[in-house]
Amino acid sequence: MRKLFIEDLELTGKRVLVRLDYNVPGDEVGNVTNDARILASLPTLRHILAEGASLILCSHRSRPKGDEPRYSLRPVARRLEGLIGLPVKMARRKPVISDEVQNMAAALKPGELMMLENLRYDPRERQGRNELARELASLADLFINDAFPVCHRNNASIVGVPKFLTTAYGYQLKNEIEYLSRLLGEVQRPYVGIMGGAKISTKLGVVKSFLGRVDKLLVGGGIAYTFLAALGREVGRSIHEPDYLVYAKDLLLRYPDKIVLPTDNYVVEEIGPEYEARLVEEIPADHMAVDIGDETQKRFAEEIARARTVFWNGPLGYFEDERFAGGTRLVAREVAKLKASGAFTVIGGGDSVAAIDQAGLHYTDYSFVSTGGGASLVFVQGKELPGIAALTDK
Ligand code: 3PG
Repeated sequence: MRKLFIEDLELTGKRVLVRLDYNVPGDEVGNVTNDARILASLPTLRHILAEGASLILCSHRSRPKGDEPRYSLRPVARRLEGLIGLPVKMARRKPVISDEVQNMAAALKPGELMMLENLRYDPRERQGRNELARELASLADLFINDAFPVCHRNNASIVGVPKFLTTAYGYQLKNEIEYLSRLLGEVQRPYVGIMGGAKISTKLGVVKSFLGRVDKLLVGGGIAYTFLAALGREVGRSIHEPDYLVYAKDLLLRYPDKIVLPTDNYVVEEIGPEYEARLVEEIPADHMAVDIGDETQKRFAEEIARARTVFWNGPLGYFEDERFAGGTRLVAREVAKLKASGAFTVIGGGDSVAAIDQAGLHYTDYSFVSTGGGASLVFVQGKELPGIAALTDK
């Protein structure tokens, strides 16, 4: 059975509850510093409005303790108003659902929008409680899930609301499913995976799953130093996870020709503006690696240049500091170059996406940039996300 898509629904005159992922980065007072996820939601919102329905928008933002004001969705609503050119009525911070909110929703006219406050201000959201899902569902006639980045969570608004309302997926969720699914089927080869980020513990499943499918897996960041430590190499004080050496060793034995590790690195004594990086082959015991070295960058660039399919997740070093962003930017640039030749290139994860911005590149330089971090990693392992499983069948 096919799951319902937004275009399958008769929306005219309806009140539509839309779950989005507006978990967008902000400054210390919560002002939006990157609006990519808000932009990605516009096709769904515009379609619903054009069909003559009213909109009740809901999302979480970060993982607030209580109702911390800096994680309010109010600044997100202001940014959305600017992008969509319509007023967005904002609900109060506390409680997230109240008689007042019910009345606001009931009074909405076709073409009008309101936004609920951060769903995670209500602890029942992360507990996945049906009671909250029922309250959310009572605000509307139909439900659209367009929140791919949180579809791997058993949150009330993700898996609970579809129990009480006819549910369809929106345009962004459709894009995510279509593009990421292509990585699970027959792909053009060589297929190169690029995996960075701090911890192998959080990515072990995806690393294993990729090794079964890719031709090469280029590894950087803390994950690489766990692999190098497993080979008995000195990694000094570089981020690595001793508890995972046994898994890393096993993968190195099973896939010796696929795993490409750094052969040189930029290292520092400490992280800080006064510490200069040195390029070394062997990491001194009292130093830590902060970026892949020049030889490694050259090797990674050669592998990428040959690729016909690429999936990249995670930075290759401590890219937050411009001086150590060379490897990560090189990957962003080299993968972008492939687009012109018709290769299929997919990027997932907030840090990789930030690196694209930092390198002055654009989302259009790749076949697809996923809005999801953790969710995309679960999806590309071929696992069904609870939020997608919960969608209503046709
Ligand atoms: C994300 O940004 O990856 C999603 O919004 C999920 O957030 P979470 O990891 O706090 O559930």
